[in-house]
Amino acid sequence: MANVAVIGAQWGDEGKGKVVDWLASRAELVIRFQGGHNAGHTLVVGNQTYKLSLLPSGLVRGKIGVIGNGVVVDPEALLAEIARVREQGLEVTPATLRIAENATLILPLHAALDRAREAARGERKIGTTGRGIGPAYEDKVARRAIRACDLAEPATLSDKLDELLLHHNALLRGFGADIFEKSAVLDWLLGLAPRILPFVEPVWERLDEARRAGRRMLFEGAQAVMLDVDHGTYPFVTSSNTVAANAACGAGVGPGAVGFVLGIAKAYCTRVGAGPFPTELHDETGRLLGERGHEFGTVTGRRRRCGWFDAALVRQAVKVGGIDGLALTKLDVLDGLDELRICIGYDIGGETFRHLPAAPGAQKAARPIYETVEGWSESTRGARSWAELPAQAIKYIRRIEELVEAPVTLLSTSPERDDTILMRDPFQD
Ligand code: GDP
Ligand code: IMO
Ligand code: MG
Repeated sequence: MANVAVIGAQWGDEGKGKVVDWLASRAELVIRFQGGHNAGHTLVVGNQTYKLSLLPSGLVRGKIGVIGNGVVVDPEALLAEIARVREQGLEVTPATLRIAENATLILPLHAALDRAREAARGERKIGTTGRGIGPAYEDKVARRAIRACDLAEPATLSDKLDELLLHHNALLRGFGADIFEKSAVLDWLLGLAPRILPFVEPVWERLDEARRAGRRMLFEGAQAVMLDVDHGTYPFVTSSNTVAANAACGAGVGPGAVGFVLGIAKAYCTRVGAGPFPTELHDETGRLLGERGHEFGTVTGRRRRCGWFDAALVRQAVKVGGIDGLALTKLDVLDGLDELRICIGYDIGGETFRHLPAAPGAQKAARPIYETVEGWSESTRGARSWAELPAQAIKYIRRIEELVEAPVTLLSTSPERDDTILMRDPFQD
């Protein structure tokens, strides 16, 4: 019985939350394996809209949600999110949510450093969410992070804070930012500990049992391949590996347990934050896509940059992300456009490329090479079967499949949960 990993194939906000929520009806556990509360997923279920950041989207379906060791967890943000969704009637208890004991914690000093560094970068800022994601991952690899399990050991916390504050206060001072007092940080952690610890366990054991019992697992990625710290548009990326290979490492299962990799891509392209975006549109069409697609960040409220579908980029994401099938979302946003463009490669200084090279200068200079296809005048919004789609929309999808070298196995035609067309069940593969 196959498991499924869902990852973004562009720069995030492709509709992963909606697709995970939809697929979760077929799974028993939904596992986040990377990222933190920089993610923002909007799920529309009837007249309820859920906005999730750190909680696995499967919780809305009443499934067990797991926050894996690869996630960076801001305990205060987590509790606030739990309180928020409880008000909407969602059950989030230690019976439904489990957090890996070896997950790294985000502390207020991480967000302070994130923001101080962005301010110091000025014009060259990355446009981070300012939530401390990067600094927390840095502490993890530097072996000084505070992890969920440490909350149970006050003496360990105290020792670790000495090292952590020595490092961070020196940096914060250098940036002219406020420093942190050990007693205040320790009190903050000890105050949160009794509310976080009931959720904490060695989740790898639960996942191993689930695997052996044949229970289906759905691995929920945040961000996207082009924001991957290795494969993305570095340095304009997030600080974790967003590709499906990291689902194994960030959850504590073997690579064979990951199963079918479903990449999510919008039928056009968006990006928040700074960095290269070859197909970005600065014209009326870009504005129209943003307006019709409600392209505002779930977390930041920032306007998302919009552009044409970049098949060269998604093809690259398919290869490095190991994507077996694509879920194409927001097809409805393209309704009524006379003509659509698909980027099939780049002109960089007079040379033609089929992929986006890694060097920042080349990425900045990349000019898209377009293929033009006819649009459709009919509405696809809310379509729930292939038969309801106009011929030109089907042609557009078929051309994308050819160019990105992966089949489109799922289509989404509105924010609403059930406005989804399944061509191939990823759990059956
Ligand atoms: P995620 O970060 O990948 O989970 O995506 P977000 O939730 O941040 O952003 C996707 C937005 O598009 C959300 O507001 C969704 O409700 C919405 N959405 C998802 N699928 C569709 C679709 O097929 N059509 C339209 N119009 N909106 C969609
Ligand atoms: P979901 O899961 C879109 C972007 C930020 C910034 C860069 C680094 O909703 O798709 P960070 O705070 O992670 O250090 O910021 O990554 N970014 C996202 N963009 N969707 C997201 O998540 C993102 N998470 C981070 O805008 O450019
Ligand atoms: Mg999002």
